[in-house]
Amino acid sequence: MTCSRRTFILGTATTFAGAFLAACGQAPSDEVAKTEVPVGSAVILDRFIIAQPTEGTFVAYSAVCPHQGNKITVVNGDTVRCTKHGSVFSIADGSVVSGPSDKPMAAATLEDNGATLAATAQG
Ligand code: FES
Repeated sequence: MTCSRRTFILGTATTFAGAFLAACGQAPSDEVAKTEVPVGSAVILDRFIIAQPTEGTFVAYSAVCPHQGNKITVVNGDTVRCTKHGSVFSIADGSVVSGPSDKPMAAATLEDNGATLAATAQG
């Protein structure tokens, strides 16, 4: 299999994308259609959370909880929650809404590809 962009887009089922990129030797990335990111809320992908706090403004964070490293798995309006110990974070800026985490979510790099967005870890 070649690592062309077209192949990547065809394989953008979120669980597949990470394995595909790992196989291609690129940084782990999650890609999603802009239309799948709700205004005022977020989507949780394999490794990243992509949010649209206000219409047309997109931000991304690592989905790894800054408390003890579990995956953040729940979106609740304009917040996301890690179910391991219950920390809640704002999608607008990644800040802690309620602990036990005392650290905000790690910001991720977000690439705007027109109809889609791709998040990668900040280097
Ligand atoms: S690991 Fe997420 S709240 Fe503890």
